[in-house]
Amino acid sequence: MIDLTAVRDETPGIARRLHLNNAGAGLMPLPVLEAMTGYLRREAEIGGYEAADEAGSRLDAVYHSIARLIGAEPDEIALTENATVAWQMAFYALSFRPGDRILTAQAEYAANYVALLHAARKHGVVIDVIPDDEDGVLDPAALEGMIDDGVRLIAITWVPTNGGLVNPAAEVGRIARKHRIPYLLDACQAVGQMQVDVSRLGCDMLSATGRKFLRGPRGTGFLYVRREMIGALHPPMIDHFAAPWVAPGRYELRSDARRFETWENNYAARLGLGVAADYALSLGMGEIEARCRALGDLLRAELRASPGIAVHDLGPHPAAIVSFSIGDKAADAVKSALSRQRINVSISRPSSTLLDATARSLPTLVRASPHYFNTEAELARLVEVCRGLAA
Ligand SMILES: Cc1ncc(COP(=O)(O)O)c(C=O)c1O
Repeated sequence: MIDLTAVRDETPGIARRLHLNNAGAGLMPLPVLEAMTGYLRREAEIGGYEAADEAGSRLDAVYHSIARLIGAEPDEIALTENATVAWQMAFYALSFRPGDRILTAQAEYAANYVALLHAARKHGVVIDVIPDDEDGVLDPAALEGMIDDGVRLIAITWVPTNGGLVNPAAEVGRIARKHRIPYLLDACQAVGQMQVDVSRLGCDMLSATGRKFLRGPRGTGFLYVRREMIGALHPPMIDHFAAPWVAPGRYELRSDARRFETWENNYAARLGLGVAADYALSLGMGEIEARCRALGDLLRAELRASPGIAVHDLGPHPAAIVSFSIGDKAADAVKSALSRQRINVSISRPSSTLLDATARSLPTLVRASPHYFNTEAELARLVEVCRGLAA
């Protein structure tokens, strides 16, 4: 069981805000904050390069922490500045020919989908969207039926930005493996709230961010690439870190996933990311997942039971992202009203998941995303304020 008093004591933000925007950015716990501020102080005191030398083993350990978090090996991890760069590095490293097919999800994230459109414009690839089942969840049987020799990539989002839907990422992985199709998984909203094991997922590449449910700092993310896949991927952009310049006319790409990195980095943020991963691991990802689901379910049930409030999440076992609307009130206005009560939520515009929003005629939605450190009383407060707005 998570010691709620201890984790709340280590979360300074809860004193000022009722934070239900962990799908936007989670509240950093004290150990993350202290690792970063301590490191920054050393940069100021002894110099940036010297501080990095001094913290060398701690900086190396970040790869081990992230690897442990997702069941990978440290050499399969590249650290990036966000999930989008991680995803793009993997995607743009693949080569496409006209007519190649890319299979994607109905709830695909906007950044990914525009890159697919870019590949369609540039290389003439065809984007095919995998249909959902009657619950609104990606349908693996439909995916299986879409496979042919032309499919070059399966790229889906596990948990979308606009609601609690959890797509069957491991089922998709089983199908991708069976047909030997590269599989790129956007795990941005899953990492930090759900157990992630890349072998069980069967993905070749996985992207995630540090600032959301992992509770790391902004401006951090990572890419996992399965070891056997790394050699086949030439990064779209390289520098002398990704590919040391070994002779005047030649470079040699690194053999590990760090071929997707560049030389200069925000080391304070990297340390914060590593500490955030260690923090989650020390609490136990199983425990975190169970509590996130329970809080998400509770909030959803209470909102559903409230006159005038509609919940829009899909799927039988949703994650801790609760999307809702209050009558015909604009989501921005609801967010502002909640903010005046010091309650943090965010909004999800149709353009962030345009296929899904179009198919369901969704307006801009209010998005509340609790985390394990939230209490049932805090959820009750959100519900009470929302009921007031609905009345
Ligand atoms: C599902 C999903 N994928 C990718 C991203 C992009 O993450 P980042 O902002 O770290 O690039 C987000 C961010 O909201 C997201 O929700």
